[in-house]
Amino acid sequence: MLILGIESSCDETAAAVTRDGREVLSNVINTQIAIHKKFGGVVPEVASRRHIEVIDGVIDEALGEANVTFDDIDAIAVTYGPGLVGALLVGVSTAKALAYALNKPLIPVHHIKGHITANYVAHKDLEPPFVCLVASGGHSHIVYAEDYTHYEIMGRTRDDAAGEAFDKIARVLGLGYPGGPLIDKLAREGDPKAVAFPRVRMDGASLDFSFSGVKTAVLNYLHRLDQNGETYNKADIAASFQDAVTDVLCEHTIEAAMIKNSKTIAIAGGVAANSALRKKMTEEAGKKGIRVLYPEPVLCTDNAVMIACAGYYEYLNGTRADLTLNAVPSLRL
Ligand code: KG4
Ligand code: ZN
Repeated sequence: MLILGIESSCDETAAAVTRDGREVLSNVINTQIAIHKKFGGVVPEVASRRHIEVIDGVIDEALGEANVTFDDIDAIAVTYGPGLVGALLVGVSTAKALAYALNKPLIPVHHIKGHITANYVAHKDLEPPFVCLVASGGHSHIVYAEDYTHYEIMGRTRDDAAGEAFDKIARVLGLGYPGGPLIDKLAREGDPKAVAFPRVRMDGASLDFSFSGVKTAVLNYLHRLDQNGETYNKADIAASFQDAVTDVLCEHTIEAAMIKNSKTIAIAGGVAANSALRKKMTEEAGKKGIRVLYPEPVLCTDNAVMIACAGYYEYLNGTRADLTLNAVPSLRL
């Protein structure tokens, strides 16, 4: 079964074709990073306009790369939330127009479910159930994947998403946008134990996250040094901040796996591209006999392969949308 996936929830316009969910025939990503860089973050209206300009070309390229035509496609899967409403609407409207014109099924896909599903593409033997950490610029969840389309939420952020914290700290360190990859790179030259930033644990046994505390702690720390006219080593700050965030992500996720007696942890979303997180999770979970899986970085950040793959499993599950499908910016998992 060939599925055309379409993704436009934030600042990447993407289209991909997969066969039977897991086999990637094409993966085209048009990123707007260069456009938003000068503003230090994604400007929603600018993002929507850019999606409109490039989406037709991105889809044509995805079909061409897969060596297929619209006639060969069996269904069209599209991200309908969560995300920026104007950005989502471009993908949703395009998918609806295609489904109508070609008379093919339309499958609505949840963006976070897509991120989790990237692990099925990366690891052909992976089957549910397993525990998954999904950490991106907009979300941080620990879920238990019960089957291919149903997820139990075991923990979520109470405030900022992990990626949001990376982006904010990178900005105050003057590193640029998006911050995650830049902190990841700089931290390799720093000492993760240079500054002990807080590791926040929410009340009781909750697996929820809170990243606003560590963010504020770094900001206050830098402020104090600035006021005293003291210099600091940016690499040490980046490494210490990253160490605090990844400690919490690993601790909670491994605890979730222990609760579910799961021998597999998958990680997903943009932050799953973080080299320190991958290493730490693999080492710490390994001590408990738990294997850790993650997709290659290009399938961690936003892409349409994950949407086509999630669309395949939704299709098998009977999920369909009609032409009343709308974008849902704060769609819940
Ligand atoms: O999944 P994604 O592409 O978009 C959302 O759905 O939000 O995630 C983007 C986020 C950004 O906050 C970015 O800074 C972060 O993922 N990110 C990273 C790394 N690569 C991307 N964070 C830490 N380390 C990385 N290597
Ligand atoms: Zn995403």
